[in-house]
Amino acid sequence: MIAGHDFGNFSEDPFRTVSAITPEHLLHYAAEAGEKAYAPYSHFHVGAALVTESGRLFFGCNVENGSFGMTICAERGAIAAWRVAGGDLPVAVAVVGRRGIPCMPCGACRQVLAEFNPSLRVVLEEGASFRIFSLAELLPFAFSLRNDDARR
Ligand code: THU
Repeated sequence: MIAGHDFGNFSEDPFRTVSAITPEHLLHYAAEAGEKAYAPYSHFHVGAALVTESGRLFFGCNVENGSFGMTICAERGAIAAWRVAGGDLPVAVAVVGRRGIPCMPCGACRQVLAEFNPSLRVVLEEGASFRIFSLAELLPFAFSLRNDDARR
């Protein structure tokens, strides 16, 4: 565990959500990832930066498709990158769309993120500052096939 920023201490979260990466860093990386977005249809560029308990970083951007429903959101791209690299427990994800405006993860992405840590912190820009939500707040009563409370 790397000492550093405390992403919050929600009572439902037994995981230590401390990371060397600050919310500002994470938002910076998310914005950078968003520059790689492929969004010729919506022109809405999204980047996501995910940090794990050990401080590893993973990135995603939205990748659109002419068959619109095939579009991959930035958050799900970051989860795929995390998974294939064998990353440890994700503790926070920053998402950046239009600068300064909170880019709330879509419902599908909330569900995908919840699979791996239901109390993941979600960091969003708000003006020149940021807000941090717990995924449990954003997706209450989430569907799960798993019932191992230790994940929560
Ligand atoms: N998008 C994301 O990447 N993440 C979200 O959570 C919401 C939406 C993308 C999908 C699409 O390429 C564009 O934003 C407009 O919906």
